[in-house]
Amino acid sequence: MEVVIKSSAEEMSKLSAELIADVVRHKPRAILGLATGSTPLGTYKELIRLHKEEGLDFSRVSTFNLDEYVGLTHDHPQSYHYFMWENLFKHININPKNVHIPDGTSKDVPGFCRWYEEQIVKAGGLDVQLLGIGSNGHIAFNEPGSSLGSRTRVKTLDEGTRKDNARFFKTMEEVPKYAITMGIGTIMDSRQLILLATGAGKADAIAKTCEGPITALVPATIVQLHPKATIVVDKPASTKLTREYPAEPSVLVLS
Ligand code: F6R
Repeated sequence: MEVVIKSSAEEMSKLSAELIADVVRHKPRAILGLATGSTPLGTYKELIRLHKEEGLDFSRVSTFNLDEYVGLTHDHPQSYHYFMWENLFKHININPKNVHIPDGTSKDVPGFCRWYEEQIVKAGGLDVQLLGIGSNGHIAFNEPGSSLGSRTRVKTLDEGTRKDNARFFKTMEEVPKYAITMGIGTIMDSRQLILLATGAGKADAIAKTCEGPITALVPATIVQLHPKATIVVDKPASTKLTREYPAEPSVLVLS
């Protein structure tokens, strides 16, 4: 695991987009694991720029998203389907058939979760998984206490997570209580991980993730065991780290 501190959220986003673009350039049929939330927005903007200005080609790329709220239809403005199409997919040349996002409207959620896991395996496994982190240390919607070996399934969202995400909804009651999420085991099977964090609100979670003991109570700490993980943070998210970290990864081209 490598920790990199960038001077700003914009610099963090440029580096993470470059790491993803590098995977796609080396493997045009790359399988990308994607995240939603505020943190990856800059990465997606930069990937769109790389596509439009530098011809980064997504035509053969496949994607699998981490999670989706249970009960929100694909066209709901707060659904992760809507988020991904608005913020990335409609701006690049991805084949819609290659896009996979958990279906929060499925009538058979356990069956859907098994199918989702099978699709990842059938595609050849994730080449790189992009991750944000909750202020409680969650990755995807694997809340504190989640099994470190878990697979795709339904999770109840912590009240803290619902409060963090309430900013996107009109009332607290509208914030979904459940989500389908890739498991921690699913995420750890990815050949590469990029975990991003911005802002002082993530400083505690980042300090525990990088320097604390590995524990299911802070699910992101499992990333310490991944052979090819890069944690990229901006200055405010780095303030509780006690060790020194570089501003660049040791090897920019990781693939
Ligand atoms: C989203 C996801 C979540 C977020 C996390 C941080 O797909 O899996 O784990 O990455 O809640 O959210 P933001 O980036 O909005 O702070």
